[in-house]
Amino acid sequence: MSVQSAIKRKTAPDLRARKNGEPIVMLTSYHAHTAALVDRHCDAILVGDSLGNVMHGFETTVPVTLDMMILQGRAVMRGSQAALVVVDMPFGSYEGSKEQAFHSAVRIMKETLCGAVKLEGGARMAETVAFLSERGIPVMGHIGLTPQSINTLGSFRAQGREEENWAPIENDAKTIAEAGAFSIVVEAVAEPLARKITQSIAVPTIGIGASAACDGQVLVLEDMLGLSPRAPKFVRRYGNLGPAIEEAIAGYARDVKSRAFPGPEHVYGMKKS
Ligand code: KIV
Repeated sequence: MSVQSAIKRKTAPDLRARKNGEPIVMLTSYHAHTAALVDRHCDAILVGDSLGNVMHGFETTVPVTLDMMILQGRAVMRGSQAALVVVDMPFGSYEGSKEQAFHSAVRIMKETLCGAVKLEGGARMAETVAFLSERGIPVMGHIGLTPQSINTLGSFRAQGREEENWAPIENDAKTIAEAGAFSIVVEAVAEPLARKITQSIAVPTIGIGASAACDGQVLVLEDMLGLSPRAPKFVRRYGNLGPAIEEAIAGYARDVKSRAFPGPEHVYGMKKS
């Protein structure tokens, strides 16, 4: 048996079984090199369509395509070996019909070999979630703030701020869970609602800006590393790599300009003539 095949990747059912158990640790990654680092500490890696903002500088995730998701999904699968890799279905690749969703999800699963897909939307996506789940495609739901709907939402505001607005979000969670989602991302929802949802559904909730009342948390890696120019306010920073990287680049530029860097003779043991 090869070393690689001896390491078992986590599966969607493994995550599903973590309901009310040890909190699920999840981060995004879009590259082989960050995936290798995240893989050592996280249960799951999300190849999020936030790559549109983080990697490509788009204002929203709306322009992200299926091909972009597949390319980065493949990179993350190459870089990781133990975590469950979940690839986001981008805007326009699944909302048209359950059949459209199935074809897009099959492309993602076949071309990346990831373990699951994620799609945004509550009750309106329930039929699609059931259709995919019944056909061998594990689906992670995503409710609360759904960034792909920015053009109808109007802003990236927290959802369910007043108690009288909780019912539709609770219904979204319940419907998607009953349709077969193996876990649900709950985004930008205050603690009392996140707790209520978490207590009322049978699958794990994974919060982002939704408090420690969820069954786990996901953050955008670059946000928590201090690499994103505009990280959401709820993100706790675990590093401040932006300034550190810039300092290294400035040092490099200084060395090149003053010719203060080693040449090949340094590496190859050649003598200067
Ligand atoms: O695209 C993404 O990174 C996400 C997270 C914000 C949950 O969907």
